[in-house]
Formats: sequence, structure tokens, C-alpha cells
Amino acid sequence: MMKHVKGNVHWVGKVDWELETFHGNEYTTRKGSTYNSYLIKEGKTVLVDTVWSPFADEFVDNLEKGIDLADIDLIVVNHGEVDHSGALPALMECIPETPIYCTANAVKSLKGQYHEDWDFRVVKTGDRIDIGNGKELVFVEMTMLHWPDSMATYLTGDNILFSNDAFGQHLATEKLFNDQVDQCDLFNESIKYYANILTPFSSMLAKKLKEISALGLPIDMIATSHGVVWRDDPMQIVEKYAAWADDYKEDQITVVYETMWNGTRTLAERIAAGIREADPDVVVKVFNLAKSDENDVITEIFKSKTAVIGSPTVSNNILHTMAGFIQMVKGFRFKGKKAAAFGCYGWSGEGVKVINDLMSEAGFEVTTEGYRNNWNPDGAAQEAAEEFGRTIAGL
Ligand code: FEO
Repeated sequence: MMKHVKGNVHWVGKVDWELETFHGNEYTTRKGSTYNSYLIKEGKTVLVDTVWSPFADEFVDNLEKGIDLADIDLIVVNHGEVDHSGALPALMECIPETPIYCTANAVKSLKGQYHEDWDFRVVKTGDRIDIGNGKELVFVEMTMLHWPDSMATYLTGDNILFSNDAFGQHLATEKLFNDQVDQCDLFNESIKYYANILTPFSSMLAKKLKEISALGLPIDMIATSHGVVWRDDPMQIVEKYAAWADDYKEDQITVVYETMWNGTRTLAERIAAGIREADPDVVVKVFNLAKSDENDVITEIFKSKTAVIGSPTVSNNILHTMAGFIQMVKGFRFKGKKAAAFGCYGWSGEGVKVINDLMSEAGFEVTTEGYRNNWNPDGAAQEAAEEFGRTIAGL
């Protein structure tokens, strides 16, 4: 199925309503996703990206309903990851001589995945190709946003930036444009996508946004590879990215805990009450990690100025789900955030120190020694936990 984007540009991608996880099981996609591919029919016919491999045959069949595949003059691969390049093998079986324009790193990733020696044409930032009717494609390397092979492609005349993963969101929709979907869904999925995929590369992103701006290319639309096309005030998502890339935090404190017999849970709730009491304006959220979507909790930590992490001590350590979660947090290289630790213990009681050490390694400023409680928290211990919350609110 084709959907009209602008001028002679059509969407020829796939809406995946059933997708539940992405990157294996690393990223939850509660609202599905789309794999956006675009067909530009000017003097030359250009295909920008394809779709994930399970939909390869469907993609090629649909494309054949719209055009003669032999009419495709060139393919642009903005990024080699399989959710965008997965239909290339099926497509290239039909049109094996068609040149593929991509970065030098994309040649490595495509050869590494598909072991094919297609007609690769390597491009770099500022390279242009004439596609007829007075229009050109301009390439912009987007190295590490989010793979070394990533790039964006700009179509002159229509002023469309095909940004690939950047500015995308995992949101299945039959609608094509940002102004046609629920705005809460759109921005919730956009910030989740940024927090869980792009945060490690925030410093590079800030430089790249300036570089794109310096090219002086007017942008009427940003056509991403996941979710909607930004046509209504497309720079709004660029401005969001600029803010998110700048050590983003809101006036929020997030309490995340694991518990065995509810003692650490009680502490979590009393700490949250203490924070609220000391600072009625701050947003306080509490998550039992074992019962929460880890990607949503990562998003909440991304939005927070302080993460308060709790686990009981078990086997001189902390519960493994929390240990794995902090390892995940470490990978996001958050900057400018504080952390504090708490937890119950029965015997040795190392859990709080373990959390402090892990959060410090994860780049957080650990602001206190933490709060630990022997056995189940009684009234005095609960009051002490509230006081700990009040202390955190003031740090
Ligand atoms: Fe949507 Fe990096 O692939």
C-alpha cells in the first residue's frame, strides 16, 4: 500500500500492530511500530530504506503493485539495521544491479549481515546526487545516531529530511502525519524512544543538530523510519531532541525498588511520602521494578533529577533484577543526575553499599550513605525512612 507524503514522495512501509518487543527483548513496544520506507518518483525513481525481514515478501509484493521494480534507479540505505534493511535481499533478487547509496560503515553492516556484494556507492556528508526535475538528494552522516553507519537523506525542492531512526517513535498508526495521532501517545513514545535508544549518544546528537542547522537546509517535513512523518511544525521534535540531549531532567524524583517480603516496599513508600512532604511541588513516582516495564522506568529516570534505588540484601548482594537494571542504567550514560540507596536486611546488610557503588559506576552522584533497616521496618524505622525522603528532597 502506498500513502502520499508530499509531491512525488510516497510511503511504502509496513505498520506492525503486533510488535511487542524490539531489539530482541530489550525494548517494549506496547503500541507496536512501523518500518517506514519511501518511494521518490522524480526523473529518477529512488527507494529510501526498506522494512524488517519478516515482512520482506509482503513489502516487495506491495512495491510491485505500485511500480515496475526495474524502474527503481537507486536505493538509499540510511542505516543497515535489519528493521530497515531486512527486505533488501528479497528486493535485490529482483533488481540485483541497482546501486545502493549508503555510508562506508553501512557497507560493512550490510555485507556483514547479508554477505552480498551489491553495487554499493559510498556517500558522506554534503554529497549530492541529481534525481531529475531539478531535485537533488543531499546526504548527512549521522554517525552513532544510533549506529556508526547511520545517515539522513535530504530531498531538495520538497524539503524533506529522511532522518531514519532519529526523531522516530515506536507507534503503530494507519495515519501518516504527526498532527493526525494522539499527541500524548506521540510524545510518550518519542521520549521513551530517545531515553532508551539515543541517550548514550546525547553529546554527539547535540553537535549533529548544530551541524544540520549549519547546512541551512529548509525542513518542511521530517520523514522518520519509525512512527509518524513530522509535517506540522517539524522542528518541534528537533527542539525536543536539543533539550533531551542537554543532560535533561525535570523536577522529578523516582523511587525504584525490589522487595522480598515487603519491608523494602514499605521503606519505598515512606521515602516517597517524606519527599512529598519536604517538597510538595516535586513529582514523585514509585516503581516496584519486578512489576514494571523496565523501559518505562528508564524513561522516568531519564526525566528525573534523582533516582532513589532500593533492594533488600540477599547473599551479601542485591536482588538480581535490580542488579541487571542498574547495569542497563549504566549503559545509558546519564549525566547530571543524583542517586540514593535504601533497603532492608536481616543479617549482613551490604545491599545499600552495593547499590551506592553500582550507581556511582553508572555515573550518578551518590548524595548520601543511604538508608538501611534491620528486619521489618517498625514505626520508628518508617519515620526514619520519611526523614531520609525529606533529606533527599533537599539535596
Ligand atoms: Fe530502527 Fe536502528 O533501527
